[in-house]
Amino acid sequence: MGKVLVTGGTGYIGSHTVIELLKAGYEPVIVDNLCNSKIEVLNRIKLISGIKPKFYQIDVQDKEAMRRVFEENEIESIIHFAGLKSVGESVQKPQLYYDNNVGSSKVLIELMEEYGVHNIVFSSSATVYGNPKSVPIVETDPVGEAASPYGETKIIIEKMLMEYASTHKDANVALLRYFNPIGAHPSGVMGEYPTGIPNNLMPYITQVAVGTLKQLTVFGGDYPTRDGTCVRDYIHVVDLAVGHVYALHKLEEKPGLVIYNLGTGKGTTVLELVHAFEKANNMKINYVVGDRRPGDVTECYANCDKAYKEMGWKAELSIEEACRDSWNWQSKNPHGYE
Ligand code: NAD
Ligand code: UFG
Repeated sequence: MGKVLVTGGTGYIGSHTVIELLKAGYEPVIVDNLCNSKIEVLNRIKLISGIKPKFYQIDVQDKEAMRRVFEENEIESIIHFAGLKSVGESVQKPQLYYDNNVGSSKVLIELMEEYGVHNIVFSSSATVYGNPKSVPIVETDPVGEAASPYGETKIIIEKMLMEYASTHKDANVALLRYFNPIGAHPSGVMGEYPTGIPNNLMPYITQVAVGTLKQLTVFGGDYPTRDGTCVRDYIHVVDLAVGHVYALHKLEEKPGLVIYNLGTGKGTTVLELVHAFEKANNMKINYVVGDRRPGDVTECYANCDKAYKEMGWKAELSIEEACRDSWNWQSKNPHGYE
C-alpha cells in the first residue's frame, strides 16, 4: 500500500477514485493543472475521508515540474486520468487534444522509465471501439475507427502503453475502458459539474432539474432500439472508482498488460435514464425529442465478464442509485464547487 500518483485527481472520476484509494489504505498524491476542476475538491475529499491528500498544481506536460513530484514522493503506481475529454471541442481543436492528452502521457511514460515506476492504470474509453459491430462489446473486439480526435488520443495512448509494456519486462499496465460514468458520491458533497453547457446526458438532466437549463433535447427518437433512443451503459462513478482499486491490486500481481471494460453490462436508453431519474427523485424532467446528434452510435454497452473473472470486480450500484446520487449532489450544489 504505497503512494499512488493520481493525475487528474481533482476531476470527476479522479476525485471519487481518491476517496476509494484512501479507503483501501493507499496514499494518493494528486497532480492536476485545474484546467477542468476546482481546488475546492480537496476540501470535499477531506470532508468525506478526513484526509487532505498531497496536491501539486502542475501540468503533466511539464516534465521538469513533474520530476519534482517523483523526487519528493516514492511513487509506486500511477493512475492517469489527466486529459481533456470534450468530443466536440476536440473536433474544433484537435492539436490541443493531441498535445495535452498524448503529450502528457509521453511525459509520464518517460518519467516512469527514469524513476523505475512500473505500474500504471490508464483512463481509456469505450470510444476506442468506434461504431461497434455487435453488443455487448468484449475486450477482444477490434479497436475501431476513432469518431473524433479525442477518441484518437485514447487509441494512440493505449498503443503507447502497449508498446511500453512489451518493451519493459517489469511494466504492468491496465487499460480501463470506461463506458458512461454517472452519479456522484452518496454524501452529496462531490460530483460532476462541467463548465458551460453540458455535453453529457446526466449533467444535462440534473441542470434541467435544478432549473439552470430549461429543457433537455433527446438526440434522436428514430434509432432502431426499443424506444427509438440510443442505448448506453451507465455506470455509477463510485463503482468505476472502486474498479481502479481492483486494477491496482491486479497490477500488484505483475500481470504485464491487461485490458478491461468497466461498465455494468446493461444497456439503458436515453428515455429509460430520463424516466429512471424522474422516478428516483419524484419529479418531472422537461424534455423534447429532437434530431440525432452527428457521430452518435446507436448502441454501446459492455460485456464486463473479464473484469470480474480476472479482478473480481463488478458494478454493484443501480441506475436508480446513480440518479438519486446525481440529484443529491446537484440539488445541494446548484453551482457545483463554486
Ligand atoms: P475531468 O475533466 O473531470 O477530469 C480530468 C482532470 O484532468 C481535470 O481535473 C483536469 O483539470 C485535469 N487535466 C487535464 N489535462 C491536464 C494536464 N495536462 N495536466 C494536469 N491535469 C490535467 O474528466 P473525468 O470525467 O474525470 O475523466 C477522467 C479521465 O477519464 C479522462 O482521461 C477522460 O478522457 C476519461 N474518460 C472519461 C469518461 C467520461 O464520460 N467522464 C469516459 C471515458 C473516459
Ligand atoms: N444525449 C441526449 N441529449 C443530451 C446529451 C446526450 O439525448 O443533451 C444522448 C446522446 O445522444 C447519447 C446519450 O445521451 O445517446 C449519452 O450521451 P453522452 O454525451 O452522455 O455520452 P456518449 O455516450 O455520447 O459519450 C461518452 C463519453 C465520451 C466518449 C463516448 C464514447 O462522454 O467521452 O462516450 O465512449 F467518447
